[in-house]
Amino acid sequence: MKILVTGGAGFIGSHFAERIIKTRPEDQVLMLDSLTYAGNLDNILPEVWNSPRFFFWHGSILDRTVVERLVAQSDAVVHFAAETHVDNSIHNYNTDDFVDTDVKGTQILLDAIRHNGVDRYIHISTSEVYGTALAHLMDEDHPLNPRSPYASAKCGGDRLVYSYVCTFQIPALIVRPFNNYGPRQHVEKLIPHVITQCLQDKSFQLHGTGKSSRDWLYVDDHVDALIMMLDAPIDKLKGEVINLATGIDTDIYTIALGILKLLGKPESLINWVADRPGQVDCHRGTCEKANRLLGWHPKTVFNEGLWKTVSWYEQNTEWWSRLRRKVMASGPLEELVAPSKKLNG
Ligand SMILES: NC(=O)c1ccc[n+]([C@@H]2O[C@H](COP(=O)([O-])OP(=O)(O)OC[C@H]3O[C@@H](n4cnc5c(N)ncnc54)[C@H](O)[C@@H]3O)[C@@H](O)[C@H]2O)c1
Repeated sequence: MKILVTGGAGFIGSHFAERIIKTRPEDQVLMLDSLTYAGNLDNILPEVWNSPRFFFWHGSILDRTVVERLVAQSDAVVHFAAETHVDNSIHNYNTDDFVDTDVKGTQILLDAIRHNGVDRYIHISTSEVYGTALAHLMDEDHPLNPRSPYASAKCGGDRLVYSYVCTFQIPALIVRPFNNYGPRQHVEKLIPHVITQCLQDKSFQLHGTGKSSRDWLYVDDHVDALIMMLDAPIDKLKGEVINLATGIDTDIYTIALGILKLLGKPESLINWVADRPGQVDCHRGTCEKANRLLGWHPKTVFNEGLWKTVSWYEQNTEWWSRLRRKVMASGPLEELVAPSKKLNG
């Protein structure tokens, strides 16, 4: 199978590509990534990069010509590329990047799939489309109440996919993962931010009362589900929306305390600030459908996943220090990206 992976230089996509290259010798990965501040070639391990079954195209999902060309060569598409940071969608001067990439980019990809055909399209949406939980456990029929511009843009992409299944019968399924965490997540996100601040003995901010909670999914469990989605009969999955959740939520104060404890740091590093506008108070999902359709259930309990994540950041200081320098640097992107034999070659 030749699998087009968009946004594969980011956090989750890089884990997915790594799994494909390491465990599925019959499969190839065709990666498309525009290497925004969140895309990082360091996320692609040498054994992946150097594999003859791995190809990288440095380009944007918004480039219709490139997308058409790559889709035409692919059997399956897994679409991760997105602007993903809720805070940026709140604090940036405008939300153009979110609407452009998460909605328009998805539409360009969908049109390419519609015209060129693929065997399956796995769309990575997000549980953020649900907003604050109205039920104890949110299932796939929970109302869509996205509360941030990020969540709204993802919701637009999610519903576009659904419409292309209904209108053009494309073989797509929509995945709604809850909050992911694990190695190689950008330091802007809560768990890596707290860990890397603690490792530097620097304070970190917590919003509101610290009681807003999320359902935390370890990245390897997410990848397990995607692999099952690649292998399951498409007739069983076409048009379905599938949550990836653990059914357990943990609030941000508890997480901060857990990280402080693992790293032996004082609680005084917490700097309390006002709540985030558009905050989602509680987020907890059921994975009953993923279990029924795929036999999937998450394997990693939160304390174990948190320990693995903290250990990874402890052991990979160079990775996150470089990322911090990159985010803070003001030079043109080209100077910041490692030169590569594969870039558009
Ligand atoms: N991280 C989570 O907790 C989480 C939870 C649910 C859903 N998701 C979804 O999973 C997907 C991956 O999330 P992530 O955390 O790995 O994100 P990330 O921010 O780490 O990576 C996003 C990647 O997309 C690339 N990209 C951005 N704009 C692009 C464009 N126009 N063209 C091509 N590439 C572009 C970036 O360079 C980056 O490599 C996203 O669609 C996100 O909405 C993430």
